[in-house]
Amino acid sequence: MASEPSTSPDSAPSSDRWWEDAVFYQIYPRSFADASGNGVGDLAGIESQLPYLQWLGVDSLWLSPIFRSPMADFGYDVSDYCDIDPIFGTIDDYDRLLRSAHSRDIRLTIDWVPNHTSDQHPWFLDARSSPDSAKRDWYVWRDPAPGGGEPNNWEACWEIGPAWTFDEASGQYYLHLFLPEQPDLNWSNPEVEAAMLDTLRFWLDRGTDGFRADVINLIGKDDELADLDRYRSPLRDIDGPRVHQHLRAIRQVLDGYPQHPMMVGEITLHRPGQVRSYYGDDDELQLGFNFRPIYTRWDAAEFRTRIEEVHDEFGDDHWPVWVLGNHDQPRQRTRYGSDARARAAAVMLLTLRGTPYLYAGEELGLPDAHIPEDRIVDPGGRDGCRAPIPWTRADGHGWGPDAWLPFVDDAADRSVEAQRDDPDSTLSLYRSLLALRRSSPTLRRGRERLLDTPEGVVAWRRSGHGDDLVVLVNFTDEAVTLGNVGDRLISSIPGTDRRFDGTLLPDEAVVVRDKT
Ligand code: GLC
Repeated sequence: MASEPSTSPDSAPSSDRWWEDAVFYQIYPRSFADASGNGVGDLAGIESQLPYLQWLGVDSLWLSPIFRSPMADFGYDVSDYCDIDPIFGTIDDYDRLLRSAHSRDIRLTIDWVPNHTSDQHPWFLDARSSPDSAKRDWYVWRDPAPGGGEPNNWEACWEIGPAWTFDEASGQYYLHLFLPEQPDLNWSNPEVEAAMLDTLRFWLDRGTDGFRADVINLIGKDDELADLDRYRSPLRDIDGPRVHQHLRAIRQVLDGYPQHPMMVGEITLHRPGQVRSYYGDDDELQLGFNFRPIYTRWDAAEFRTRIEEVHDEFGDDHWPVWVLGNHDQPRQRTRYGSDARARAAAVMLLTLRGTPYLYAGEELGLPDAHIPEDRIVDPGGRDGCRAPIPWTRADGHGWGPDAWLPFVDDAADRSVEAQRDDPDSTLSLYRSLLALRRSSPTLRRGRERLLDTPEGVVAWRRSGHGDDLVVLVNFTDEAVTLGNVGDRLISSIPGTDRRFDGTLLPDEAVVVRDKT
């Protein structure tokens, strides 16, 4: 197969940039494991499953929010950044989890929600109490527009309406880009930045390894808050002029700690190049999510473009993140429509150059759960991908009698218990991929270049660090014959021969040690 010029460096691993060698595993704490038996997952539950995570072979955890919260957005509405919500446990539980994770060589990163607090946060209660409050300017307050009504035309998320809520007592509106229960902080006030940096120090002082920063691109808003025209305005609401200055202040805090803490940003911008700009000159974020692949349908040409644009826009000097699932999107099994495709996607996620983020439950091939109308709890319609992890076959699947959301339809067959000892299971495939990645510096750090392939197939070569591997993914439902042969180290389809004779089965993805 002909090769395109390489775009990726053959860089050396470096332990103080541990996040570049790690596979991150995202835990949605409510849905992971329930030690207390009340139907909602908790920190003790996560600790009890550390042996599973070590057996699976992930390096680092990201916990979705565990801070105190009234749970209007299930933790993304924080009322105390320096305490654990009682539903998840206590600070002591957190410290124990951190110690236990470290004793198993697993790092722990946590979600930090800097753009907005809960409307029940003492800062907002104080700000709302009077226009003269010392905290008033910690949030974004504006008078009604000259003719009355909202101060500008900004819309809140999930089509819930304007991004402004009127406060009767003061006659002003406050800004919230999400729910009214999630007022936006005013980061242009230096006291806000200072207070939020202190919340990072609180967790870093305990030994926390890093953070996932929620919608970090929203914190640099322009004070002018001008009306938006989606087709013409600069992105003043979602990519404001001050965001990079805040990111540099955050990075300085992180760099002051011996554990080499990292921050990955949730960046809801369109182009990978915009995401890359949030790395600054290696003085802002260490990693940023590029979400384009998550919005890509199962199509070879589209996925090839996703890889090409990362090569083009990240270049050699920046390290991308690959993410195909999280707590905000339908699961891979549901989006791609079959187990075979979800399994092929696992091969992609864990063999592309960059740091993979794997969402808990993907290793079981879970689809989205069907949520009856009377059990819908999320204002953003995302309950399906947040169904509890089925640990065991038996009813209850390792949870108390009343899990907070329904399980997926075939929870017994997809449970950890059912898959763990089955060499053909999706869980075994993930475990083999993680083991291969861990044992192969080439897969973790090697150069990457796309190969020319017939329509319907995407292939890339990983080379350097003593090996030469080719990954081939057949996006079609027909077998495709290619020129190269070699040893098939892994196939997404159970029972295939070790020798790869150049024929890819329908929806098959393989990792081959090239013999051509
Ligand atoms: C992010 C989170 C999402 C949350 C939103 C508001 O997009 O991933 O779950 O609802 O921010 O905090």
